[in-house]
Amino acid sequence: MKQLIQVLSAVLIMVGMIYQFSPQPNKEQNLRDWCTNFDGDNGCKGSQTDNPSDWFDRNFQTPPRGDSLWREGYQDYHILQGYAQQKYSSDLRSCSISIYTRVNPEYQGSLVYSFDGEEQTSPNKSFSAPRSEVQIKVYLRVGGDITIAKLELQPVDFVWNHPTVNQSSHYKNGQKGAIVELFGWKYEDVELECEMIAKAGYMGVKVFPPQESILDYEHPENGELNPWYWLYQPVSYRLNSRMGTVEELRKMINTCRSKGLRVYADAVVNHMSGNGNDMFPSHCYGSTYWGNKNSSGGSPWYTQGFAYQNWTWSGARPGMEFPAVPYGPLDFHCARPISSWNDGFILNYGWLVNLGDLNTESDYVRQRIADYITDLLSIGISGIRIDAAKHISPEGLAYIFKKLANNMGGKLPDDFSAYLEVIIGGEKDLLMCNENWYNYGKSFDNYMKQAGLSDSDIYKIKIWSSDYPKEHPACGWWPISSERFVAQLDCHDDQNPGSSSRDMQDKGSVLIKERNVEKHRYFNRELFFRTDANWQIKLVLSSYSFIDSNGAQAPPDGHSDCARCVGSACSGCTKSVPYKKAHNPNVCGYTIYQNGQWQQGEYTRVHRDKEIIMEMRRWMGLSTSVSNAEIGLPNHC
Ligand SMILES: *[C@@H]1O[C@H](CO)[C@@H](O)[C@H](O)[C@H]1NC(C)=O
Ligand SMILES: *[C@@H]1O[C@H](CO)[C@@H](O)[C@H](O)[C@H]1NC(C)=O
Ligand SMILES: *[C@@H]1O[C@H](CO)[C@@H](O)[C@H](O)[C@H]1NC(C)=O
Ligand SMILES: *[C@@H]1O[C@H](CO)[C@@H](O)[C@H](O)[C@H]1NC(C)=O
Repeated sequence: MKQLIQVLSAVLIMVGMIYQFSPQPNKEQNLRDWCTNFDGDNGCKGSQTDNPSDWFDRNFQTPPRGDSLWREGYQDYHILQGYAQQKYSSDLRSCSISIYTRVNPEYQGSLVYSFDGEEQTSPNKSFSAPRSEVQIKVYLRVGGDITIAKLELQPVDFVWNHPTVNQSSHYKNGQKGAIVELFGWKYEDVELECEMIAKAGYMGVKVFPPQESILDYEHPENGELNPWYWLYQPVSYRLNSRMGTVEELRKMINTCRSKGLRVYADAVVNHMSGNGNDMFPSHCYGSTYWGNKNSSGGSPWYTQGFAYQNWTWSGARPGMEFPAVPYGPLDFHCARPISSWNDGFILNYGWLVNLGDLNTESDYVRQRIADYITDLLSIGISGIRIDAAKHISPEGLAYIFKKLANNMGGKLPDDFSAYLEVIIGGEKDLLMCNENWYNYGKSFDNYMKQAGLSDSDIYKIKIWSSDYPKEHPACGWWPISSERFVAQLDCHDDQNPGSSSRDMQDKGSVLIKERNVEKHRYFNRELFFRTDANWQIKLVLSSYSFIDSNGAQAPPDGHSDCARCVGSACSGCTKSVPYKKAHNPNVCGYTIYQNGQWQQGEYTRVHRDKEIIMEMRRWMGLSTSVSNAEIGLPNHC
């Protein structure tokens, strides 16, 4: 059993190998019945950790403009890639932008940078409050005025452009409070719900990964159109996602802030998409052949896995490339399966369930991740969850946070907080109790100190550990202050039918598995009345139920309704999820159970439960003599 728990203690259990292969009828299939792909040569040799340096050739794989495979989101990534770095002054009232670029060495030219239409040859420009967002373009030109490539970035915004979040001193300026995780909610619904959540007394709302990820209406996978775990397969750090466009995201953040609510985001920075889930038209494994996928922002991306022929556009074998970031083949660890959950080397360097593992030892990758988080803070996000943190070494994470602090004027913003997802199964000694190089307790703190972070910055970086509620603290004692742990009853990963990553037994309850509202409510109240630790941040999951009749596990946000499927593979869409609107101002909590019936494919709205709200308010020291209207609920609740 212990072994089983260890094996299952992956973050995204659903993203198992089998889900990478979506069977697609392919004419190649008639020609051979067993594929020969390049995977035998893709793995690590011995103690090798990174892809070989000559794999640089496997870069710039995007089809050029004019090619039949070119699409609008591909820009001129065949030639020119880049992004905007932001570095703030210590008072956060001015910011210098610096454009990083990668140019295909086969093309010569000079770079010209345009900030709001004003062109210059320096990649750097500074801006000060109250300056609003900036539009940025980069050109590669020859002969003075002939543009051979153009790169258009998402607009860059600044921390000073957002409403101040006005919360009472009980919230310790963002360092104490409850955060609602709205799993499967679109931004437009989060925006409508914010006022209620703020009135109830929660500190914030957390949205699921906002970065561009796989979204594809042509290729149902395992019977589902757009399974939820594709949110955890990033394609770039551009911010068009399943939950809405970047414009909708920014509008939602500003509305929530103006209602007195902070917004947190899930940061997926350990890995990019699954190997074999990419833009190439030709993949195979065994006797299964499949084509390309699409993404929520339309950017191209490439992986090294499961390809059976060289790619037309590079003439080379396919390699890891996410040009809209940009990441290339050398920004990844070589492919190594996770064959042990007790070995820090393998946890760090291994590819979690075959997801392309970023080389977080590289200075560029660390900087790029810190710059992505800086971008999130610049559009008004207050803090982040770090997904799969246990698969990034404690030292690597410490330096990423230090780089983030450098970007933010030398220290993390006062109201910033981060919580690292560290699932602790049988590996508590390695991960938490024994000081060693792969320890997210005391050793991680030491790395952060060594990197130059102050005690007050370190305090803002918390550990979400799976030992709550049953075995908290995992070691039997607190290796670091209990204030540094974030507590939560059920989380979105616990809902998977096969997941036993958190062993709650009779000390907790996963709502959509156990379907026991009374028990779940009790344990969510307990989250707030327990006094055996001095938790400062507590999380409440508000999710949706799966559909029994067809086994669908995707959210009812409309993206997994088979009616939206297009193309020849749609007969494989068997687990349809009809759209339901998440925001409903007229209901109380636990809409999952109505008129004595368990509701299928319905939002749970746990955060609207009055008893949970009252318990949370007691924990926060907020008044509990309040009317329903004062806490945002309808009278009948
Ligand atoms: C632009 O800024 C970067 C980062 O601050 C710096 O390293 C670089 O030298 C600057 N480049 C120019 C041309 O000013
Ligand atoms: C927050 O409080 C400040 C200072 O009292 C005020 O200027 C600002 O308008 C308030 N913001 C919101 C969104 O209410
Ligand atoms: C791919 O996704 C983009 C962005 O969501 C969309 O505009 C485009 O139509 C999609 N392409 C295909 C072939 O589905
Ligand atoms: C395929 O690409 C590899 C390098 O990535 C190269 O060595 C090989 O010659 C290529 N094969 C063909 C048929 O072009």
